[in-house]
Parts: sequence; structure tokens; C-alpha cells
Amino acid sequence: RKANVGVVGLAAMGASLARNLAHHGNRVAVYNRTYQRTETFMKEHGDEGVLIPSQTVKEFVESLSVPRTAIIMVKAGAPTDQVINELAEYMEQGDIIVDGGNAYFEDTIRREKAMAERGIHFVGMGVSGGEEGALNGPSMMPGGSDWSWETLKPILESIAAKAPDGTPCVAHIGPNGAGHFVKMVHNGIEYADMQLIAESYDLMRRGLGMDPQQIGDVFAAWNKTELDSYLVEITAEVLRKRDEKTGKPIVDMIVDHAGMKGTGTWTVQTALSLAVPVTGIAEAVFARGLSDQTALREQAQKENFKAPEAALHMDGAEAETFIELIREALYASKIVAYAQGFNEIAQAGQKYGWDIDMAQVARIWRAGCIIRAKFLNRISDAFESGSADISLLFAPYFKEALENCEEAWRKVIATATMHGIPTPVFSSSLAYFDGLRSKRLPAALIQGQRDLFGAHTYQRVDEPGAFHTLWAEPDQKEIKISD
Ligand code: 6PG
Repeated sequence: RKANVGVVGLAAMGASLARNLAHHGNRVAVYNRTYQRTETFMKEHGDEGVLIPSQTVKEFVESLSVPRTAIIMVKAGAPTDQVINELAEYMEQGDIIVDGGNAYFEDTIRREKAMAERGIHFVGMGVSGGEEGALNGPSMMPGGSDWSWETLKPILESIAAKAPDGTPCVAHIGPNGAGHFVKMVHNGIEYADMQLIAESYDLMRRGLGMDPQQIGDVFAAWNKTELDSYLVEITAEVLRKRDEKTGKPIVDMIVDHAGMKGTGTWTVQTALSLAVPVTGIAEAVFARGLSDQTALREQAQKENFKAPEAALHMDGAEAETFIELIREALYASKIVAYAQGFNEIAQAGQKYGWDIDMAQVARIWRAGCIIRAKFLNRISDAFESGSADISLLFAPYFKEALENCEEAWRKVIATATMHGIPTPVFSSSLAYFDGLRSKRLPAALIQGQRDLFGAHTYQRVDEPGAFHTLWAEPDQKEIKISD
């Protein structure tokens, strides 16, 4: 009997996904460019279910039942194109190719179009949850045609993470690049979330002088509040871990340069082209960038700038109170980061005609993915009720949360600023919130400046039309340019 699904690429993610599929009663064809890896995989896991190895792409395609479904789990970029072309050579009309890598959504749009011309359904699918998730239940965000979703649905539902209410964390996001777009924004939010946690840690470490173990305990306690999430949970684990060699906290032995593979940057680049402010995500990407500017940072150390002392000199009850303020500041900033991410999805949905169901996106992020968090329940409720249509910030639950946290948010940022501890995502999130709330913005002055140096015109508050002041003329008269 043939396989009902196949996996191409048996590196960490592909191998885990293939095993997960096999564990759930699927008959799984497997193929890897170097056959040796396939052999090792079969030796280690071949008895975990029905796994059918192939040495060539042709053999692999032939081992699949029609319509054929192949999931590609290889490096995003050129390797993905190569595998797609090889598969397409042997596949037929009605077959389905799923790309489960972190592909750039414009590439997915291009690939879907090229495959559609050959009658092949191409599905760009975001897969979140790392190796562990791929094995035990990832959150999956497939795009592509409705037709392919019908075929994929039972297969993907069998392996997906299950939310606390039992719903599988997979849903058809929309046509062509919609799935990869949503995964990209997921990663952008992941960056903001991680940076917010890091800023909170820094405030406790440098500001309150706590050691990593103590801070780990704080995060473990926060994980029992509204902040209950995978990232907060693993933060406690990282902070409590000691280095095997030196016995010091492992976090003190790790070089402070944060890496990144591109999805956060794409989220920001795309947001810029869509004109959606995603300030929290952008600052998180820049913070990683700054951490990696070795020469710049070294020179800054040599300059030995005169600066305030980071220590806040608080202890006992005062320190406890400040820790609670940090928690609230983190929560408020996190709400802003999610609101901005969802705005980007909504805007892209309009531009690309995707018709994305936001409540559903929040629902499939409740388990399996890296940003899984208890408050995603609240987010999906908010979208479901229609109260988050313009922004999540206006849904009653989140509006109230922001109002409750506002004072803490300001105090923490003010304190951090006075003590020279950088809080780029805390600060930019609050600036966004304050910008939104402002009845009048200084943008009016910018319009005046633009009109003076470039005759870019402006609108008046009391009359429709476009106006220009003849700035260079002695009487500086205003003229109406258009209605
Ligand atoms: C996930 C992760 C996953 C991955 C990214 C991290 O959802 O499972 O987001 O996609 O860990 O590669 O990206 P950086 O390497 O850019 O931090």
C-alpha cells in the first residue's frame, strides 16, 4: 500500500514531523537528499509507525497515493525552489506540495502561481513549535487553495497541538501566501515578546541587583498570572540553569549577541511597506541588531560615557512593589505588540485579498506555537465579538487591562530612563499608545514644514481642499491648490 503523505527533508523539523505523522496512523513516505540521513532515520525511528523510505525523488513520488501530498521541510530559499521543481517533475495535476519552512510570503505567492499553471496545488504552511512541537503537536498555518485544505485537513488535524478545549491548532488561513504571512507575523510577535521579557530581566538584574535564580523564580510566579505563556515559562528555566563547567548561572556564560534568521526583519519591512506601525516588533529587531554590533559596542565601552548608576537601591517591600510594576508594564507592552501584529495581518489581508479570520488565528496560536499563551483566549474572544475590529486595544478586556497597567507602565519606563537601563519595546509601546490617544498630534507642524520647504500642501481643519502658503513672499499669502 502506498503512503497517504510524504515528507521531504529529514533534518530536525522534518524528521520530527514525519514521526508525528506516523504516530497518528498516517502512512508516511520519507525522502532526504543524502540517503544516509534517511537510513539513520529509519534505523532510529522506522518502527514507530508506517514509514516508507525512498532513495530518489521519483521513487518518493511513486510511493504516494493519488492525489499525492508531499510536505517539504528544507531550508527556506533556494533549497526550497529546488525541491519543488524536482517534485513537480514527477507529480501530476491535482497533487499537493506543502512548504512547511519559514518561507517569505512573496516567494510563496510566486511558487503557488507557478505550480497552479501546472495544475499542482502549492500550500505555503507556517509551522511553529520548534522540533519538540513538530514531534508532539505544532501549530500550523496553511495557505493555498480550498481544495487542498480539504485533503490536508484530516492529516494536519491528526498531528496538530490541541488547545485546552480540544480544538486542533491548525486552520486554513487563506489563499497563496496567507499562511506564511501569518507565520511571519507570529515570529515578529515572538521577537517583541522575547525582548519584553529580556527588558524585564534587565531591570531586575541591573536595577534591583537580583541574581538569575531569583529572577527565574519571579518569572515562574508570573507564569501563574495573565502572563501565563510558554516564553515566560522557558525564561524561568533558562534563568535557573547553572553552567556545568563553572557552576555559574548559564545566562552569565552566554555571549550577549542575539541572532536572527530573518522573519522578524521581514515582519518589519512588510509593515513599513503596508504603512502599519509595528513599533514593538521593530524595536525588538533593532535591539537584536544592536546587541550584535561588536565594534560599535566595544568603542562605546572605551568612551566610558558619564551615565547614571543602574542600581535602583530598593529592597524589601519597595523592590517587591517595583517587580509588580514591571509585570504590569510587560503586560501592557505585550498587548500593544499583539495589537500591532494583528493590525499588520488585517492590512495585508486587505491588500492581498486574503479575508483572514483573526479570531481563528488567535485560536490556533493557543497551543503548539512559540507564542502560545493563556491570553490568546481573550484575544480570540475579542475578535469573535467584533470589539477588536479596529484594534485589539479597544476591546473592553484589553482596554481595561491597559488602564489598570498604565501607571505602572509609565513609572517603570521613567525609572529605567533615569537609571540608564534601555527599555526600547516598553518605551515604544507606550509612545504608540500615547500617540493613538492624542487628540492633536504635532503632525500638523510637520505638514507646515513640508509645505514650506517643498510646497507639499496641507489640509485645513476648517475647510476642505489642499492649501499652500507662499512662504517666500513678503505677505506669505495662502492659496488654495485644489478642492
Ligand atoms: C517557531 C519559531 C521558529 C524559529 C525561528 C526563530 O515558531 O517555531 O519562530 O520559526 O525558532 O527560526 O527565529 P530567529 O532565529 O530569527 O530567532
